[in-house]
Amino acid sequence: MRLLITGGAGFIGCNLAAYFMRAGHAVTIFDNFSRRGSEANLAWLQRERAPGPTVVPGDVRDAEAITRAAREQDAIFHLAGQVAVTTSVSDPRRDFEDNALGTFNALEAARASGRQPIFIYTSTNKVYGGMEAARVVEGERRYAFADMPNGVPESWPLDFHSPYGCSKGSGDQYVRDYARIYGLPTVVFRQSSIYGPRQFGIEDQGWIAFLAICAATGQPITIYGDGKQVRDILYIDDLARAFECAAQRIDRAAGQVYNIGGGPGRTLSIWSETGPLLEKLAGRKLPVRFADWRPGDQRIYVSDIARARADLDWTPRVAPEDGVRRLWDWIQANLTLFQLE
Ligand SMILES: NC(=O)c1ccc[n+]([C@@H]2O[C@H](COP(=O)([O-])OP(=O)(O)OC[C@H]3O[C@@H](n4cnc5c(N)ncnc54)[C@H](O)[C@@H]3O)[C@@H](O)[C@H]2O)c1
Repeated sequence: MRLLITGGAGFIGCNLAAYFMRAGHAVTIFDNFSRRGSEANLAWLQRERAPGPTVVPGDVRDAEAITRAAREQDAIFHLAGQVAVTTSVSDPRRDFEDNALGTFNALEAARASGRQPIFIYTSTNKVYGGMEAARVVEGERRYAFADMPNGVPESWPLDFHSPYGCSKGSGDQYVRDYARIYGLPTVVFRQSSIYGPRQFGIEDQGWIAFLAICAATGQPITIYGDGKQVRDILYIDDLARAFECAAQRIDRAAGQVYNIGGGPGRTLSIWSETGPLLEKLAGRKLPVRFADWRPGDQRIYVSDIARARADLDWTPRVAPEDGVRRLWDWIQANLTLFQLE
């Protein structure tokens, strides 16, 4: 199939591009190369899958540019956007334009193509907000949900929090609605923490990669809160398979929303468990500084992935220890990429 990936030079995008090119699909990536590391990701893609994907430099805020790129495509994976909550707070207009308007432009481009392409959107668990109604219990090393052993289902009430939550959330709802109103075969993935090689994690986004990069390069680490916050984590190859499963089962998946993450079987606490894992890889003790909780930080978020398992015949395969080691190996083999961090 002919596949357009917006944000295709980003962490998730370049990995999806490689995965789908390996499977024989014709991939075009559309990116404005605003994210640090995106040029390096493209260079990798061009080496890995020579001569590489078709590249269209462009911005999703530019309706004409994305409309041109979307012509003749059988599928569009819409990933481009502003990705950090903190940046959305300092520049909410830019965040709105990249995410809400950008997603609207991408949907309109899909509709204007007249080909009813498959459209998969990378939403986020942040659409559920602070989840104050969830009862949380504190253990010695980690927090746990008192009443949701399987994690948070898609039926949990939406409660957009922060400009990023609002802009991604409005994209989420537009994408779902374009299936109802225009019959576009759209799918929403509400992703939790995705991690793996080619992730240029920064303190504000991509926490596993950020901590691993700090550990590998000797940069200081600050943990906000007590470090017992729990997240489910999903290795990038497992996410790529989820995209493939959804595209292959689009009759079932169209119009649906899926929580996509590692689920209850793949969780880590942010420092009390991730720290020892990284210390083992680094072969030394990692000093950290603890600071105040960040506003709105969830003590625990774990995706209930039962719906995705059932509808998409998909299940994550890579265990956290394994995935973190693969991420670590990539960082070690590419230390020069992080010299200016
Ligand atoms: N990584 C995660 O854990 C995670 C979790 C939930 C949701 N998501 C979503 O998945 C998507 C991809 O995330 P990622 O981790 O690969 O981020 P990333 O920053 O590595 O990739 C985003 C790409 O989009 C490009 N981009 C940004 N603004 C653009 C614009 N206006 N026009 C064109 N290109 C633009 C950037 O240059 C970058 O290459 C994002 O939409 C993000 O919100 C990611």
